[in-house]
Amino acid sequence: MKKKERIGVYPGTFDPITYGHIDVVRKSLSILDRVVIAVASDTPKRCIFTPEERRKMIQGIFKADARVSVEIFPGLLVDFLRERQLKIIIRGLRAVSDFEYEFQMATTNQVMFPSVETIFFVPRAEFFYMSSSLVKEIARLGGTVSAFVPDSVERALKLKYSQTK
Ligand code: COA
Repeated sequence: MKKKERIGVYPGTFDPITYGHIDVVRKSLSILDRVVIAVASDTPKRCIFTPEERRKMIQGIFKADARVSVEIFPGLLVDFLRERQLKIIIRGLRAVSDFEYEFQMATTNQVMFPSVETIFFVPRAEFFYMSSSLVKEIARLGGTVSAFVPDSVERALKLKYSQTK
């Protein structure tokens, strides 16, 4: 009998993706067969990268790993999961401050789509307090962000901020 693939969906804004997110993807692949990184296009956040730019950036990072795919999703995450008949949501749980929000999202998603399960991974300690906003602020002010993001993302940030000056 063929084993059913375990596929997890890792949603986020990813504006931009950081080593913290990449760490969560890597940890997920230690127990799942595949990970779909789902880039939210309907977000109240003011993103500097378009959804397509974010998708391409992430795709470039994982191009050597066929277990990782990247898709853009508009609207509700549960609708994206339902359409693809997927049931596992991946989230990173960092500081205690994440817990309330994550608990709220996980339970709300489960009310909307009862067969969904959210699994949490604890990222490495150095990524606990990182956020895409902090990375953007450092890059905007001319600092180096190579400790937080891959080279391709750093280059994209530099280019973006040189265009908006
Ligand atoms: N390492 C480093 N940074 C991390 C991280 C990690 N492991 N995990 C998250 N972060 C950062 C993110 O970059 C983000 O930074 P920012 O706020 O500066 O952009 C911040 O921590 C918060 O991340 P997260 O909680 O993942 O928020 P998000 O905006 O990236 O994603 C969605 C939220 C898109 C998953 C959520 O809003 C969603 O599902 N939207 C779709 C609509 C929907 O279904 N809504 C109902 C939900 S119940």
